[in-house]
Amino acid sequence: MNPSLNKPIKNIACIGAGYVGGPTMAVIAQKCPKIKVTVVDINPQRIADWNDEDLDKLPIYEPGLKEVVTEARGRNLFFSTDVDAAIKEAQMIFISVNTPTKTYGKGKGMAADLKYVELCARQIAEVATDDKIVVEKSTLPVRTAQAIRSILDNVGNGVKYQILSNPEFLAEGTAIHDLHNADRVLIGGDHHTPEGQAAMDALADIYAQWLPEKRILQTNVWSSELSKLTANAFLAQRVSSINAISALCEKTGADVEEVARAIGSDSRIGPKFLKASVGFGGSCFQKDILNLVYICRSQGLSEVADYWEQVIIMNDYQKRRFAENIISTLYNTVSGKKIAFLGWAFKKDTNDTRETAAMYVASTLMEDKAEIHVYDPKVTEEQIISDLEYLSSLNYHNLRDKQIRTQIHIHTAPYTALENAHAIAVLTEWDEFKSYDWRRIYNAMLKPAFVFDGRNILNAKELKSIGFKIYQIGK
Ligand code: NAD
Ligand code: UGA
Repeated sequence: MNPSLNKPIKNIACIGAGYVGGPTMAVIAQKCPKIKVTVVDINPQRIADWNDEDLDKLPIYEPGLKEVVTEARGRNLFFSTDVDAAIKEAQMIFISVNTPTKTYGKGKGMAADLKYVELCARQIAEVATDDKIVVEKSTLPVRTAQAIRSILDNVGNGVKYQILSNPEFLAEGTAIHDLHNADRVLIGGDHHTPEGQAAMDALADIYAQWLPEKRILQTNVWSSELSKLTANAFLAQRVSSINAISALCEKTGADVEEVARAIGSDSRIGPKFLKASVGFGGSCFQKDILNLVYICRSQGLSEVADYWEQVIIMNDYQKRRFAENIISTLYNTVSGKKIAFLGWAFKKDTNDTRETAAMYVASTLMEDKAEIHVYDPKVTEEQIISDLEYLSSLNYHNLRDKQIRTQIHIHTAPYTALENAHAIAVLTEWDEFKSYDWRRIYNAMLKPAFVFDGRNILNAKELKSIGFKIYQIGK
């Protein structure tokens, strides 16, 4: 066996200080105080924010993250822009960079763009002087490890590598809880060689510092890579399934929450991920399914590809249906009307807005000339404008940048956003929205006062008794 791959892990590097790299490494550092963990990124502002004395300036908002960072930062958790130094020093390197959908060339709009992952592999190959375990933490198409191996082996200078797949299953908003209590950790590697098994065991030992061993699963690399895409596809499929039923509920008088409770009580189905909504968002569900569809098509499996693509088609339908219902209910036009948005993030307890349903709904309403007033407890004005400009860059709508800036108004407190509104749309399920003074809001709104609850969080009975006309999903 190669002795250097069997050495205890003293230094970990993680390339990519984003929503996955930051919290994951913070928890590894917290639970393994004897290992030095260095998280590196090419974005200097991100690193400066991770190092900020003021913990409110951390680049990511996650409940419990501040406490973990406070415990480990400066002790054995470091954030730096010096990628080369971190690579050199580490025995184990996590690649945790973004893998967005390709926006150009072959596979445009479908395949994962692996350019950032490839750059990491090239940089490791150029800089490393001793043997390394390279861990794929990013979500990658099945067989990516082969491409990484080919770069490492062909560019490297005699250094030996073990490549592991260790996909991350945390959900945003509950990342720290999920990392502390993971249902399972998946480690894909080469169990047929002693070096491969030693590398898998070295990574398993790290997680075993806080998780029971039976939750640490070992598989071959391809199963591990594919399991991650499959897990996200199954989760998203459940949301699209209940959203499809929500449309039928609205036509038939059934109530989607009663249906969800009834089917979720079957232990084979289970109650989680059956919450009907305005549509799923987030950086991964859509991107990972598109990637799965692309892989299936490339393998000639067109029926399998079509099957999974329907999950996305249904999600797009749900977002569009919500926006169009607002327009038709407001007498077929929202031109010049004030529509107040409660929430912009793709789910509660995060400041992440990637693929948020809110931006698609806003865009449809703005094309009908609505004035959108947004209040979200954690999302900044720059972010909201940049989300809408991103949709312009995809030609999703015909709004010019100037038009975006004049039709969208961001508020730092809720009541000014809601005053004189023709309608309110709830786009994110932030808890605070439930405890607002809804009578005060009603008095300040134009009548009839419409509420479109895209998350089914408000007490419809109470709001109706105040005088609101309320629309909820699947009711
Ligand atoms: P992110 O965009 O928040 O972070 C990625 C970071 O990598 C960025 O800060 C970027 O500057 C940095 N980066 C890119 N190329 C680099 C390079 N060559 N050198 C150094 N830094 C570089 O992305 P994320 O949400 O953390 O996602 C990362 C991966 O994890 C993706 O593959 C995603 O699918 C997967 N994932 C994400 C989640 C989630 O909840 N966000 C959960 C599970 C898995
Ligand atoms: C999801 C998975 O849950 C994680 O396991 C995975 O690691 C992650 O993707 C990833 O690979 O990035 P995340 O997107 O952070 O996590 O959040 P989810 O809780 O899965 O919610 C995704 C979207 O679905 C949100 O917009 C949420 O509001 C929506 N959703 C979720 C529903 O509309 N209904 C539900 O019942 C559940």
